[in-house]
Amino acid sequence: MIKTDIFSQELQELSRFTKAIAHPARLAILQYLAETKTCISGDISKSLPLSRSTVSQHLKELKDLGLIQGRIDGLKTNYCLCSSNIDKYLLMFESFFEPIKAVDISCETLNSNKLPSMKNKNLKGIVKEKYGAIAGQNTLLKEQGCCGPSNCCGELEFSMIGDEYTEIDGHNADADLGLGCGLPTEFAQIKKGDTVIDLGAGAGNDCFVARTLVGETGKVIGLDFTEEMVQKAQQNLTKTGFKNIEFIQGDIEEMPLPDSTCDVVISNCVLNLVPDKQKAFSEIFRILKQGGHFSISDVVTSGALPEGLKEAAEMYAGCVSGAIDKQEYLKIIEDEGFSQIKIQKEKPIVIPDETLQNYLNEEELTEYKRSGRGIFSITVYAEKNSRK
Ligand SMILES: C[S@@+](CC[C@H](N)C(=O)[O-])C[C@H]1O[C@@H](n2cnc3c(N)ncnc32)[C@H](O)[C@@H]1O
Repeated sequence: MIKTDIFSQELQELSRFTKAIAHPARLAILQYLAETKTCISGDISKSLPLSRSTVSQHLKELKDLGLIQGRIDGLKTNYCLCSSNIDKYLLMFESFFEPIKAVDISCETLNSNKLPSMKNKNLKGIVKEKYGAIAGQNTLLKEQGCCGPSNCCGELEFSMIGDEYTEIDGHNADADLGLGCGLPTEFAQIKKGDTVIDLGAGAGNDCFVARTLVGETGKVIGLDFTEEMVQKAQQNLTKTGFKNIEFIQGDIEEMPLPDSTCDVVISNCVLNLVPDKQKAFSEIFRILKQGGHFSISDVVTSGALPEGLKEAAEMYAGCVSGAIDKQEYLKIIEDEGFSQIKIQKEKPIVIPDETLQNYLNEEELTEYKRSGRGIFSITVYAEKNSRK
């Protein structure tokens, strides 16, 4: 049986009311009482096509909820409408449906492009919550990340970049939460004096590496939309005393940055989490100076993956559920006006059979292996050489 007592008193009462009127006979009785403006006895069966026993059963249900009241009159019971209770329920109904009516979504919206943006709002909420929780943890976060060996998306045992970072100049252990899936700075051709923007900077891992490359004369801006991540990055920055790194809070789909702000955009394992990738790349184009470029590490798929497989990959490596097909990804970059598009590095993310078996049946597993489809971490480079 479905438990109803976990819901609010108001919802329980509203559903009792709905149930009480959810029969045409009971509605007909209420209608009759309202139209005749009288009280009635069980002999209403003469006016409605119902037997006496059926009428009394329905009268009882209406009475139990207080929609009608009965008064004994000799051998008969007279039933009258209880308008104050009906008013109470109608008010409850109205206040319940008012906010629902106010939401700008209807069945027609299903086929319009309004729906994805609402869905996207929820997705972003989930992403913020997840990374907010990661940032809030005080333990060695490298062991608890989402694209790293974490358990926040399940029992992850896999790190997409392993220890590659620790040897790099500028590596800041506190900022390295093991959340990346590549080394974007490796191919970013960052020069002394450049202004670099790191999208979805997390705790600042790539910003500190980029700072070593831009030197004292350059500038690094780390953008992230999760408040706790920005705070964490800021704490890490305070410890270093560097003056040319800045962490700001903002959404990649709508960056709080002027046009032509930077020479280089970098990003590590973030755009797969952004619902509108076209908007993200259009924003990257906008904030890059003419002649600027980006180097972005991300997760992509080859071909559409079955849901079970995406789930397995998400549990194993994280950052997969929002990943799109590699060709589609590259096409978006091209459509947004970039040139010299190159995949600088590509690594398959191999999910062990034991994990796959939890999500795919034997037939699906064989089909997956035969299809050659899979999940990859890539690092892409492209230039802004034209105005859109
Ligand atoms: C997988 S983590 C990577 C963090 C960092 N790049 C690193 O390698 O350590 C993804 C980060 O992207 C941020 N993020 C996701 N979607 C975003 C968006 N639409 N706008 C800004 N930041 C976003 C999250 O808050 C999170 O900090």
